[in-house]
Amino acid sequence: MIQLKGAVAPRRALAAGALLVASVFGATSAMAQGSPIRVGLMLPSTGTYAALGTAITNGFKLHVAEQGGKLAGRNVEYFTVDDESDPSKATENANKLVKRDKVDVLVGTVHSGVALAMAKVARENKTLLIVPNAGADELTGPLCAPTLFRTSFTNWQPAYAMGKVTAQKGHKKVVTLTWKYAAGLQAVEGFKEAFEQSGGKIVKEMTLPFPNVEFQPFLTEIAALKPDAVYVFFAGAGAAKFARDYHAAGLKNSIPLYASGFLTDGTLEAMGEAGKGLQTTLHYADGLDNKKDAAFRLSYAKTYKLQPDVYAVQGYDAAQLLRAGLAAANGDISQKDVIIKAMEAAKIDSPRGTFTLSKAHNPVQDIYLREAQGGQNKVIGTPLKALADPARGCKM
Ligand code: BEZ
Repeated sequence: MIQLKGAVAPRRALAAGALLVASVFGATSAMAQGSPIRVGLMLPSTGTYAALGTAITNGFKLHVAEQGGKLAGRNVEYFTVDDESDPSKATENANKLVKRDKVDVLVGTVHSGVALAMAKVARENKTLLIVPNAGADELTGPLCAPTLFRTSFTNWQPAYAMGKVTAQKGHKKVVTLTWKYAAGLQAVEGFKEAFEQSGGKIVKEMTLPFPNVEFQPFLTEIAALKPDAVYVFFAGAGAAKFARDYHAAGLKNSIPLYASGFLTDGTLEAMGEAGKGLQTTLHYADGLDNKKDAAFRLSYAKTYKLQPDVYAVQGYDAAQLLRAGLAAANGDISQKDVIIKAMEAAKIDSPRGTFTLSKAHNPVQDIYLREAQGGQNKVIGTPLKALADPARGCKM
């Protein structure tokens, strides 16, 4: 009940009090009646990254299902858009979720270029955005924002670790190859930073347009250049094709191939013989010794009859992070400041190992060295522990 101070309550104050009661009651009763949290999943379900989008969706929904279909006591209603990993359609797609579907939270996406456009829409509309994959360094760099969180990585993180590992293996001259867009270019930059700090030299940086898979001319050039090793960023269906082509060109046994772990996560089956023995760096691996991972893998396999990969983990953790925020606000999505504060302070018990977020809202996490053995990316080391992205340009 609202109590007004003073002997005679002015009519205006009474009316305002009545309105306040009505709106507080309205919000509470909507929550009590179980009005759902509206979650917009903007992910690819077609194209070279389709499987990545599916795994993220599976992971997110698995965590919600484990909470009885609710987050902080609220039911969850999903709105989905296939973003096709196409940056030219990204603004329109994000607007469909924000303006048409009026989602409370945006979750997406896989492709760095699409995520950059999504972040702009989210910022303009003050919508909470959780990025469950796209590594664009800018998202937690110059474009960092209080309402923008990431549960995955920056393109720099695994690549920087691979640069260090490649140098430690004694390689001096490396050729790089990737798709020409933010993810690939920034991964090469991260690799180069660590590799050159350790005295290595990049002898040639090669690119092709995303999602082109005509690798033959590049393989011919690599054979002619005879570097000590090759570093690549590829992911999804294109990654499997690249590894098969590298093998078929007879390069696998003569020039070691290294990559950020996206090359082999979720793709080893499609690579067959070509994937065997490949070493990559990533914030997730098979064979981690932690209870959360064991429970997650069992639950995921039971639910989807599939083995999870890094994308599933990132989706699962996006739901965990959202739950941490909502729980602090008792499920009231309008309490943005409370939600943000709780998400910033969250310690996520992830299948990858527990992680916290940096000031720029990006995971501070261990980076594992993995080797493809028996169809799995087996952990064989941890070259960097609690690695934080430098978050260059973030002013928060
Ligand atoms: C990206 O575009 O940021 C990305 C896509 C697939 C795997 C990793 C990163």
